[in-house]
Amino acid sequence: MSELDDLASRFESELAQAQDELALNDLRVRFLGKKGLLTAEFKQLSRLDPRERPARGAELNLLKERISEGISRRQNELKTAHLTRPTLDLTLPGRVPWIGRLHPLVQIEERMRNIFRSMGFAVETGPEIETTYYNFTALNTPEWHPARDEADTFYVGDDRLLRTETSPVQIHVLERGKLPVRIIAPGRVYRKDKPDPTHFPVFHQVEGLYVDRGVTFADLKGTLLYFYRQFFGAETELRFRPHYFPFTEPSAEVDASCYLCGGEGCRVCKGTGWMEMGGSGMVDPNVLEGVGIDPEEWTGFAFGLGIERIAMIWYGVDDIRLFYENDLRFLRQF
Ligand code: DAH
Repeated sequence: MSELDDLASRFESELAQAQDELALNDLRVRFLGKKGLLTAEFKQLSRLDPRERPARGAELNLLKERISEGISRRQNELKTAHLTRPTLDLTLPGRVPWIGRLHPLVQIEERMRNIFRSMGFAVETGPEIETTYYNFTALNTPEWHPARDEADTFYVGDDRLLRTETSPVQIHVLERGKLPVRIIAPGRVYRKDKPDPTHFPVFHQVEGLYVDRGVTFADLKGTLLYFYRQFFGAETELRFRPHYFPFTEPSAEVDASCYLCGGEGCRVCKGTGWMEMGGSGMVDPNVLEGVGIDPEEWTGFAFGLGIERIAMIWYGVDDIRLFYENDLRFLRQF
C-alpha cells in the first residue's frame, strides 16, 4: 500500500517539474506506458491472492485516474501560461524600419532658407501660373525678348504662362507698397527645355530681393559672399561677371570658388576652379517705377540662384534628371 503512496508522491513531484509538452509525454510513458511503473503494478495483480485482488485493483485504478488527470491538468496549465506570458525574445535581431527622408532638393532649399533667414530675409512665395505682365513686362523685359517666345515658355492661355523664373515674386512683394523689403522666394520654375544632364523643364530657384534707402552693389556682394561662405565654407571667394538681365542694372553673374579644390580645378568645377551660381544685380529703376516706387529714394539688389545647380555641385550629382525620377536607390542616399 505504501509503495503506491510512494509512487503517487513521486508522480506529483515530477509533474510539478514538467515544464513542457515533451516532459509531460515522458512522464506519461514512464507511469502509464506499456513498460510503465503503474502498468507493472497492474501486471502484479494476477500473482495476488484472489481475495485481495479487487481492493488492490480499485486502488490501482484510482491512482491511474489521478495520474492521467494530473497530466491533462498540467497540459492545460502550460497551454494558457504560454498565452499569457509575454513572449519577448531578446536574442532576436532588431527590426530596422525604413526611415523616410526629405528630397535632396528640399534639403538644399532648407539650408539656403536658413542662411538667408539668419540675415533677416523673410520667405515669400508666389503663384506658379503667372500673367505675362508679372513674368515679363513688370520685370522690364522687352517685347522682343526671346524668353517670351512660345518655343521657350509654357503658355496656358494668351496671357498666362508657367513662370519661367521666380523673379515675378519681386513684383508681387513690391506692389504691396511696404518698404523696406528683404525677402527670398524659393520655388518651381518652368522652361521648354529638352531634358539632358543639365536641363529639365521644371527646376527650382531661390529669388532674393532687398530694397531700402541706400542699398548698394557692395551690399549685394557682402550678402552673397556671406551666403556662399556659410553654404560651402569660409574659404569661398566670389567673382562677379558683367551680364545682362532686363530687371537689373548693372547685372552680374556670380561664380563661387570651387569648394572641393579651392580653385585649383577639379571634377566638380570642370577644371575652371569656379562654379557658376546664378544671376544678380541692382534692381532696374524701371522696375521700381513700374510699381510706383521712387528710384531716387529707394534702391535695391536682387539675385536668382538655381537650387538644382547647388544640389548637383554639393552632392556630386552629374545628371539633373535623377532629382525627378524618384528612384529610391537614388533618394535613399541623401
Ligand atoms: N531670373 C533670372 C534667371 O532665371 C535670374 C536672376 C538674375 C534673378 C538676376 C535676379 C537677378 O533676381 O537680379 O535667369
